[in-house]
Amino acid sequence: PSNHHLHQSSATPRQTPPRSQTLSTRREAYERDFPLYKQPVEVGCFSLDSRRRFFNDSRQMRYYVEPERSPNFDLRDGYKERYVKRDENVKEKLDHILRWIIANRSKLTSKLTTNASCPLDFDFVTWRGHLTKLLTTPYETREGWLLAVTRFNGTLYISEVETEAARRERENRPERNKEMMYWGYKFEQYMCADDTNSDPDPSGVVNTNEAFCTVVQTRLTDHKLLFSGEVDCRDRDPGAPPPPACYVELKTSAEICTPKQRSNFHRFKLLKWWAQSFLPGVPRVVAGFRDHDGTVVSVETFQISKISQLIKNEYNCWKPTVCMNFCCDFLSFVKREATEDNPSVVYLFSWEPHNDVTYSVHRDSRYSFLPDWYIKEMTR
Ligand code: A3P
Ligand code: MG
Ligand code: MG
Repeated sequence: PSNHHLHQSSATPRQTPPRSQTLSTRREAYERDFPLYKQPVEVGCFSLDSRRRFFNDSRQMRYYVEPERSPNFDLRDGYKERYVKRDENVKEKLDHILRWIIANRSKLTSKLTTNASCPLDFDFVTWRGHLTKLLTTPYETREGWLLAVTRFNGTLYISEVETEAARRERENRPERNKEMMYWGYKFEQYMCADDTNSDPDPSGVVNTNEAFCTVVQTRLTDHKLLFSGEVDCRDRDPGAPPPPACYVELKTSAEICTPKQRSNFHRFKLLKWWAQSFLPGVPRVVAGFRDHDGTVVSVETFQISKISQLIKNEYNCWKPTVCMNFCCDFLSFVKREATEDNPSVVYLFSWEPHNDVTYSVHRDSRYSFLPDWYIKEMTR
């Protein structure tokens, strides 16, 4: 049976299929054929400006500019003087996606029933980043997660809750780590232009409030998904394929000098990079390899479709099929357990490394995340 990995927590009556309140995250349980994952289709996009204001358009889109082979970008430049950091204490939950849904409702509901009370034709609505965490769970040994789930008009909304451990880490981040977080955004500034014909402007301010997000629709086996994810830039060639195939993900990583470093890069970094871009169908990652002082010494392109080949010779390495099958089974688990359709009820799914996924149900407002304006608009 497909749920052979579900633990039975107590004796169940005869003829009842094995069911459990928990879900295993053991890799061996997910080594089966790759599940159906439909080609993701972009159904829209939105932008967040320098003050984190929402716009239902692509005004924050940036364009990829091919750099020299060893460009010597100084990623430390501007950290002290030209850096505006997003306030991480503000928890936006699903709010931007919900705003996008309301602004694009007519595109989403079937043409036969365009009335406002028609439910969304999706099983799940969430951020791409939350799905990335699910994909990497069978291989994660350090950081657990909390995912709040609410069933509303038949759709399951998934929104992350920061764990206590994550909050403590964030509040005690060493200065070096804070600066290195800036380096990733600075690299983007060296690599991207604001228009198809202009050049990057490294003298400008790095403002991490700004974002361009794609909204994609796809299906993982029988789960219809709608999710959004930030996109770093797109191919500037007007003849490039339509989104998401024209999108480019930018990454920085420490330069690789030893076989051990290469192995770690394959086993840990490429897993995260693959999971993040595979989900929305972004075909390539452009990586800047930096030295200890934050200078980019080389730039290399990775095709997402070739990453599984790249890692095949690595001992004890991750497998895309395990990632996707775990995600699929987690979504089935959520569908089965989160049954009460009520915008103020939250099923809080919780996972810590080396443990099964468990959940608790919350009827008070502590974890509820669907805003009143959304509930009101969707029940009109
Ligand atoms: P790098 O990944 O190149 O270091 P993204 O790559 O997803 O577009 O994110 C841009 C940058 O945001 C990252 O660049 C990194 O600097 C920072 N960042 C994103 N997620 C992070 C996380 N979980 N922890 C620390 N920094 C993060
Ligand atoms: Mg990004
Ligand atoms: Mg990036």
